Amino acid sequence: MAEFEKILFKYIDSPDQDRIDTYIKNGGYAALEKAITTMKPEEVTDEVIKSGLRGRGGAGFPTGRKWSFLPKGIDKPVYLCVNADESEPGTFKDRELIEREPHQVLEGTLITAYAIKCKIAFIYIRGEFAYGAKQLNRAIDEARARGFVGKNLFGKGVDIEVIVHRGGGAYICGEETALLTSLEGGMGYPRIKPPFPAVAGLYGCPTIINNVETLANIPHIINRGASWFTTIGTPKSTGSKIFCMSGHVNKPGNYELPMGVPLRELLFEHAGGVRDGRNLKAVIPGGSSVPVLTADKIDVRMDFESLAEAGTMLGSAGVMVLDETTCIVRTAQNLAHFYQHESCGQCTPCRQGTYWMLAILHRIEHGQGTMEDLNTLTDICDNIEGNTICPLGDAAVPPVRSTIRQFREEYEYHITHKKCLPGTSPARFE
Ligand SMILES: Cc1cc2nc3c(=O)[nH]c(=O)nc-3n(C[C@H](O)[C@H](O)[C@H](O)COP(=O)(O)O)c2cc1C
Ligand code: SF4
Repeated sequence: MAEFEKILFKYIDSPDQDRIDTYIKNGGYAALEKAITTMKPEEVTDEVIKSGLRGRGGAGFPTGRKWSFLPKGIDKPVYLCVNADESEPGTFKDRELIEREPHQVLEGTLITAYAIKCKIAFIYIRGEFAYGAKQLNRAIDEARARGFVGKNLFGKGVDIEVIVHRGGGAYICGEETALLTSLEGGMGYPRIKPPFPAVAGLYGCPTIINNVETLANIPHIINRGASWFTTIGTPKSTGSKIFCMSGHVNKPGNYELPMGVPLRELLFEHAGGVRDGRNLKAVIPGGSSVPVLTADKIDVRMDFESLAEAGTMLGSAGVMVLDETTCIVRTAQNLAHFYQHESCGQCTPCRQGTYWMLAILHRIEHGQGTMEDLNTLTDICDNIEGNTICPLGDAAVPPVRSTIRQFREEYEYHITHKKCLPGTSPARFE
């Protein structure tokens, strides 16, 4: 691949990049000034629509189009909620952006607030990210001292306040409607959609929810233009992506590369290949909620369309690598445990289905399974999918369904031999 000029991580290794002086020296806050002093809010939204930017939180919804769904001419405040809850297993990109480039996140938040005419933006940050919250609050204080946060920004009569809110400590609080309920002070229970948050969100008011990485792209789109952004990545998945490489790789970590980078290149050229020279068994390419790819399927490009064509998803781009020593049943059990634990319990198919999936996988892994269990697991998946209030239930299905589809013989081996395949041991996601 030709040399790629990083966008979001360009200055991440500069000393003091988290301080406002360094951020400004490296071009920071020029986009905010440009937006507020030379563009109308609608023009900012149009530029983001033209850029083709799609949400980086998992679903890949076009960002500018989401903003354009806000109802026009109603007499209610508009809110922006930045989703910094980052709890998807295998995903750790937003944390790095927040801790090391907090002003980039803040500038994206401020420009977005301007575009959607929001006066109070919330950054809902995962409760455990104490350092991230501290970094964001310091960034807000520094930006306020320069006149970038608060009242009458750039003398243009624009008021924007930004509030950091520490999250409720549950995976479900990252689901956008649960995030709103939690921010309002309630338990993080998802709400039925419609109404969508753009129409009735925080305190019943129109609300936009965007992921941290999504918004970190906004200053660059405003500075360099939508047409520049569309030259990066693929026609339908524009821009760069931060890929979180974890599991059995030699160089785990975050890698910013153009959308559409081949998975093989990402794994073997950037992340140093499979740990200890072992063979690859499988890759979970988009966080724990997406179908697994077997080792022979890694000649796929890492963008929304290519991964969908390959039968999986880009999701949050948490790429988990499993080498040949991994027990697939144990992996599925591990992930099922996560979803069972994190289900909020509101809907029966998710509450009961995740419980039974875990119980059955546990008994297969421990030598007490039957062949009929494989059908029961598939039945449970069928009963969860599409029958729940929020996508957590659906997200619990792919790790089970896809591993049964792709590694059925390994499940059958557990059932007939009452043990793991020789040479495999429980997976660990480091
Ligand atoms: C169970 C669950 C957890 C989620 N967790 C997060 C999260 O931690 N961060 C995030 O940005 N999106 C998360 N999402 C997706 C959000 O609901 C929402 O789609 C996203 O924040 C929208 O931002 P985007 O359009 O910029 O991607 C989660 C979704 C589900 C179903
Ligand atoms: S799908 Fe699961 S997590 Fe989502 S609302 Fe229903 S019970 Fe709660």
